[in-house]
Amino acid sequence: MPQAIIPSGVVSVAYIGATILFILALGGLSHPESARRGNLFGMIGMALALFATIFGVVTDNFTLLIVMLVVGGAVGLQLARRVQMTQMPELVAILHSLVGLAAVFVGFASFTDPNVHFTGVEKTIHDIEIYIGILIGAITFSGSVIAFGKLSGKISGNPMLLPARHWMNLGLLLVTIWVGGQFVGQSAAGGGMAMLLIMTVLALLFGIHMVMAIGGADMPVVVSMLNSYSGWAASATGFMLSNDLLIVTGALVGSSGAILSYIMCRAMNRNFFSVIAGGFGTTSGSSTGDGEDQGEVIAIDAAETAELLKDAKEVMIIPGYGMAVAQAQHIVHEITRKLRDKGINVRFGIHPVAGRMPGHMNVLLAEAKLPYDIVFEMDEINDDFPKVDVSIVIGANDIVNPSALTDPNSPIAGMPVLECWKGGTTIVLKRGMATGYAGVQNPLFFLDNTRMLFGDARDSLDNVLSNL
Ligand code: TAP
Repeated sequence: MPQAIIPSGVVSVAYIGATILFILALGGLSHPESARRGNLFGMIGMALALFATIFGVVTDNFTLLIVMLVVGGAVGLQLARRVQMTQMPELVAILHSLVGLAAVFVGFASFTDPNVHFTGVEKTIHDIEIYIGILIGAITFSGSVIAFGKLSGKISGNPMLLPARHWMNLGLLLVTIWVGGQFVGQSAAGGGMAMLLIMTVLALLFGIHMVMAIGGADMPVVVSMLNSYSGWAASATGFMLSNDLLIVTGALVGSSGAILSYIMCRAMNRNFFSVIAGGFGTTSGSSTGDGEDQGEVIAIDAAETAELLKDAKEVMIIPGYGMAVAQAQHIVHEITRKLRDKGINVRFGIHPVAGRMPGHMNVLLAEAKLPYDIVFEMDEINDDFPKVDVSIVIGANDIVNPSALTDPNSPIAGMPVLECWKGGTTIVLKRGMATGYAGVQNPLFFLDNTRMLFGDARDSLDNVLSNL
């Protein structure tokens, strides 16, 4: 058997170093100020892990390995260069799917590896690791592909609800457990491939069904949940390969994704299991329905907006997905600076699910170098709206929809929202009267103290700035 280039002791030390760097990376990512440093730690940790694995674990087929690394690296680099900020969520989803696919491939490779000779209990444990690894990997793969489709608009955001879907899910779970038992039994006798294939198909179907059943407004939870699954898939692969670093890294990703899912659920006032079971966003005929006459909206122009802002003492800026589309964050910074120079108190209110990915708005504002001390989470400032003179809603819709609080039939019912209508005047910047991601009309636009500034957010803000 060929030897690895560096000894196993060095590999262990490198793995411990990489683990520490990954933990530091996660710590750094918890705040915009330290996020850059956190990313750097993650990159160094990953480089160390790759180096130790290539030269300390791999013993053969180096040419193939290096060629694949170069090809994969080049594709990744191109994707990262080309992707627009607004396409990040779907890129993340499709990358999760690759982790799942890798777990499936490694599982099958490990099962058919002629060099692996386990017997007795060890064989059973290894078979269970393979089974679970492929199971989680296949669910992650197909679920992430569907999430990619939904986030990029290639698949409708509406939940697909099959009759008796809960019974179907339960049935699938029971069949999967039974097939697992058969697989372990047959594998001990030298077979098992057919059972493994059957489970893979069932898991793929389950992943598709699970994400298809989740409505548009609940997609944030799905994104973070698939993030978590991809971590557990990697961890299961680590068990298959007896690779400690993969186990730990997978567990870090898995648990941080699970915590994020929990935070997302809390932010949207959802029960995690209800979201996974699907079916939110199914009610129709609500008072916020598109077809209903809600009255007239009152339009405003940039000059009037500038006047209102100049006369205000307290201004709240509420950014949403439209700010990302318009790439208006830099001009927002200019306006903020101008208003603050006039002694006006400007603050930002950030909804936890604003945009299309966790922290989307924070990333954009950090990119525009806005001071962090005027950026607040929803919970911190929601009670302050009665004291706010002017709120500017920049390309946000669902996160400022009062029907979430007033209409129990709304698909977003129960989700806490930024209650800007309680302030003096709300100015909403959007291009037309289109609905937001959840597809519901927004009564805020029709209120007496709301003004609509129609147009692309960047153009509108440009005009406001020149009028200031
Ligand atoms: P949305 O409800 O999607 O509303 C965005 C609004 O921006 C639209 O109504 C659109 O109206 C407007 N807009 C788009 N491009 C614009 C432009 N260039 N200039 C001006 N306005 C523009 O966004 P939100 O309020 O941020 O809410 C987020 C939604 O996404 C929630 O439903 C959330 O559940 C969901 N979601 C969030 C995540 C995460 S993790 N954050 C992930 C997946 C889904 P016009 O077309 O009329 O301009």
